[in-house]
Amino acid sequence: MFKTIEWTGDGVRMIDQTLLPGEEIYRTYRTYPEVAEAIRSMVIRGAPAIGVAAAMGVALGVKNSRAQSVAELRSDFETIADTISHTRPTAVNLFWAVKRMRDVFEKALAAPGSDAQKIGRAKTLLEQEGQRVLTEDIAINEAMGRHGAALLSDSSTVLTHCNAGALATGGFGTALGVIRAAVAEGKKISVFADETRPFLQGARLTAWELAKDGIPVTLITDNMAGHFMKQSQIQAVIVGADRIAANGDVANKIGTYSVAVLARENKIPFYVAAPLSTIDLELASGDQIPIEERSPEEVTHWRGIQTAPENISARHPAFDVTPHRYLTAIITERGIARDPYTKTLKAFFDRKDPQHASR
Ligand code: MRU
Repeated sequence: MFKTIEWTGDGVRMIDQTLLPGEEIYRTYRTYPEVAEAIRSMVIRGAPAIGVAAAMGVALGVKNSRAQSVAELRSDFETIADTISHTRPTAVNLFWAVKRMRDVFEKALAAPGSDAQKIGRAKTLLEQEGQRVLTEDIAINEAMGRHGAALLSDSSTVLTHCNAGALATGGFGTALGVIRAAVAEGKKISVFADETRPFLQGARLTAWELAKDGIPVTLITDNMAGHFMKQSQIQAVIVGADRIAANGDVANKIGTYSVAVLARENKIPFYVAAPLSTIDLELASGDQIPIEERSPEEVTHWRGIQTAPENISARHPAFDVTPHRYLTAIITERGIARDPYTKTLKAFFDRKDPQHASR
């Protein structure tokens, strides 16, 4: 089995998702600007995986710092956090991870000791925390799988959009984790994967990882989803999320909104699987979620080959927002939330049991 991301001791190793499925190449980054660039260029992508990369990038930057005093280390930390925070704006997991690392950093500096002791402690604790973010993410996905599997009926076909699998997380996946868990329970599930223009996460990544697992997957282009829904060939839709507002509005890969509207029209349940680290209670509604606008060249070209007229105007919002009224439920590691999300999502944060993803 492949590893999406791991800590090597002196760097961060990732499978290069821009080259899949043709080439399975691992890259090791040994500086935080390299990790930031890997996030920006989508060598690693998917909200939870971006969170893990951000945490490890911060750990790496602090580990490599030559600061001799706490003041110098603080200044280095701010530069590192700022660089990582300016890579991709939509997935809140990135900011969640930087904040989590900042809290550990502050705790390490607050404990008594000389500057040298504090610096050493900060480096050690951040290195440990980066790895903890990864292992917790996998456990969270498995918990989501346990909760969500019950929602999928036996012998059903499930449509997914983009890639919310092992590649988009520390491992196992959110939406694909739910599918994997249902399959592990013995349910006969087959998947329709939207190819997900323009970056083709569905064709390149979802199809690749499901096929590797032996889960039956059929690739369709994005504009085929309505056709198959109308023909009763799809029984449920399950997707991941990049950021969920307090009212349950969901930002996810561009095209998700269209799928949700089609699902409603065809009376098909539409589920979102996401960890609490993807829920941003600070935003009242999805209107406030920043939407990344990527290069139009990703629309007019495919791997350097021009597929549109020269100099044509093109747009590339990388995400859209699905209003919560289209959702059947949100699956989290703490259970399944239904409308009114303002109450049900907040209740998951307020619970007192050990929480992996606190904000
Ligand atoms: O642009 P990407 O590939 O980072 O977008 C990824 C998605 O939209 C995923 O659906 C989302 O991050 C959930 S991943 C578990």
